[in-house]
Amino acid sequence: MDFGRARRAVLQLLGATAPADVPALLHWMRTTRDFDEFTQDNNDIMLKNIADDLRSCLPQEAVLCSEQLALQKIRQQPEPTVHVDAFLYDEDVIDSLCEEGKMSRNYCTACGSHQTAPLGFISHSFSLEELKFIYQHVLPDLSGKVLVDIGSRLGTVLYAGYLYSSAVQLYGVELNGEFCQLQEMVIKKYQFGDRIKVLHADICTQGSLLQSADVIVMNNVFEYFLTEPQQASAWDYIIHNVRKQGSLLLTVPSLQDSLLGLETNMQLSSWVEEIPLNFDVYPQRDMDRETLEQIHLYKVL
Ligand SMILES: C[S@@+](CC[C@H](N)C(=O)[O-])C[C@H]1O[C@@H](n2cnc3c(N)ncnc32)[C@H](O)[C@@H]1O
Repeated sequence: MDFGRARRAVLQLLGATAPADVPALLHWMRTTRDFDEFTQDNNDIMLKNIADDLRSCLPQEAVLCSEQLALQKIRQQPEPTVHVDAFLYDEDVIDSLCEEGKMSRNYCTACGSHQTAPLGFISHSFSLEELKFIYQHVLPDLSGKVLVDIGSRLGTVLYAGYLYSSAVQLYGVELNGEFCQLQEMVIKKYQFGDRIKVLHADICTQGSLLQSADVIVMNNVFEYFLTEPQQASAWDYIIHNVRKQGSLLLTVPSLQDSLLGLETNMQLSSWVEEIPLNFDVYPQRDMDRETLEQIHLYKVL
């Protein structure tokens, strides 16, 4: 059946449905995951198109001049390190940029010589693989649930949540206004506005949103962007407000690692319980298991 006939058949089916059941049928069609096997490839393509759009709006390092602290912290790493955004630049894109001489995986250890060592790469975004792992294998069915991505940056967690989950509402909270504008551009272009909302705000002003969320995502939110005392007080605020029993908290890295060296006196065991994850879901695929193992899931007690 070609597109025209399939479309007419769907409309005919809607016309033949009892009028009282049409809203429920439409709601199911909009939110069900039963179509996942038909839409998966298309969703991957859409996310790759979004990455293309965002790459054309950002410098290659994808860090803005307004992010002085983040730039400084990258420079202070013990080994020479560059920021390569894993959502914008997958391995294939990096390979072709290296071939064109526009990017390098190595740095010169003695200027002018051929001695080189691998550059450290850090990413401020999840890659497409990580996002799919999160929505397809880590989080449960999100029908009717509200998800909040703290520090939504390019909006990748939100777009993937729109395409790969049935979450009823996806909120991004981002401190940096320029990144909020980029997210708004994508939301408008791809018509995600019915389920995604971006707030330009410090998460420490969003107590009621945190209190009502069913799932909260925190991908290395504070370490590169706040000073240590600011990180400690932001964590105190999170711990104080993320209290909905049974709600889920997904973090990178673990809570223990995130809080290491910060002056907070929170007893994690009285706040959350860690849910073990299965990292063997891609046995035949060449996935970066070490990266996936940075993902942790907790249930609020
Ligand atoms: C590592 S990025 C996470 C990106 C995105 N969530 C993802 O996983 O792809 C962290 C973001 O958090 C933002 N951020 C840091 N502190 C924040 C705060 N207190 N409130 C809101 N956003 C914050 C930063 O500006 C940065 O864009």
